Amino acid sequence: MLRDGALVAFPTETVYGLGADATSGRAVARVFAAKGRPAFNPLIVHVAGADQVAALAVMDATARDLAARFWPGPLTLVLPLREGHGLSPLVTAGLDTVAIRVPAAPLARDLLQRVGRPVAAPSANPSGRVSATRAAHVMDGLGDRVDAVLDGGPCGVGLESTILRTAPLALLRAGGLAVEEIEAALGRSLPRDMTPGKVQAPGQLSSHYAPARPLRMGVTSRDRQAVLIGFGPVSGDLSLSESGDVIEAAARLFDLLHLADSLAAEKGADRIDVAPVPETGLGRAINDRLRRAAAPRDMPQP
Ligand code: TXA
Ligand code: MG
Repeated sequence: MLRDGALVAFPTETVYGLGADATSGRAVARVFAAKGRPAFNPLIVHVAGADQVAALAVMDATARDLAARFWPGPLTLVLPLREGHGLSPLVTAGLDTVAIRVPAAPLARDLLQRVGRPVAAPSANPSGRVSATRAAHVMDGLGDRVDAVLDGGPCGVGLESTILRTAPLALLRAGGLAVEEIEAALGRSLPRDMTPGKVQAPGQLSSHYAPARPLRMGVTSRDRQAVLIGFGPVSGDLSLSESGDVIEAAARLFDLLHLADSLAAEKGADRIDVAPVPETGLGRAINDRLRRAAAPRDMPQP
């Protein structure tokens, strides 16, 4: 189906992706339409192995080290495009770099190997809304705008990949690979490049990952008007992790945001409250997603 230009959602260890043949302008255009995604926001290209990157992009020594250490896995590298790459220019939104990742989830690897082409895949959710970590989330959010969904069960990591640019080195998006792990591997600290006005990563639109209802962070007590998502000692209607484990919390985050919306509808609550989450390890990426989910909405709500 992918080779014929269809949109096929598939599970990676981070989140479900909405896949399309990255060499087909028509297929990639359908991805933007299905998500309602602005065309200036480029897509991540997924390949089965690091050996498939050479045809698409240029890897310097740092990129090669990071790939050897963390691929397959929840890391995306932004690399200079190679001449004759064959990708649709829509994928990169006309930039001279491309974001590439090699996912670890067996179903994704198997699919990519069989397709034998680079697959462009943003997270499989309507633009600006909560990402999908289960096949049912994809069906709920995109419905018949997707031609097929491969159901691989819930995603193990649960947060989008960490995005790094290697030349010059910068963190563009905190994600499923902890910054501490990358810094330990590189033996140096990671500069962040969040230059406003430049296309960086989803952070460019401050409202993102948004549930239907407004969200508040750092809440420690219950309120009848809200559904409380707890963490550690703060118990709520739902809990990210009763033991206060940020890895477990990452895996549950998007699922609980989806659930909190339906629970709020049942209870007649008009807000989602979330307990404080520490800013360490994956907690950094969790708080990044929550801050954007809590941000004033810069798009029309459904
Ligand atoms: O875990 C993930 O990364 C998931 C799974 C499906 O792979 N994908 C994902 O895609 O999160 P998406 O489209 O929701 O977020 C990718 C972000 C985009 O918002 C975009 O701004 C950034 O990656 N990006 C893509 N190409 C880029 C480039 N050349 N330079 C800078 N940022 C780029
Ligand atoms: Mg996304």
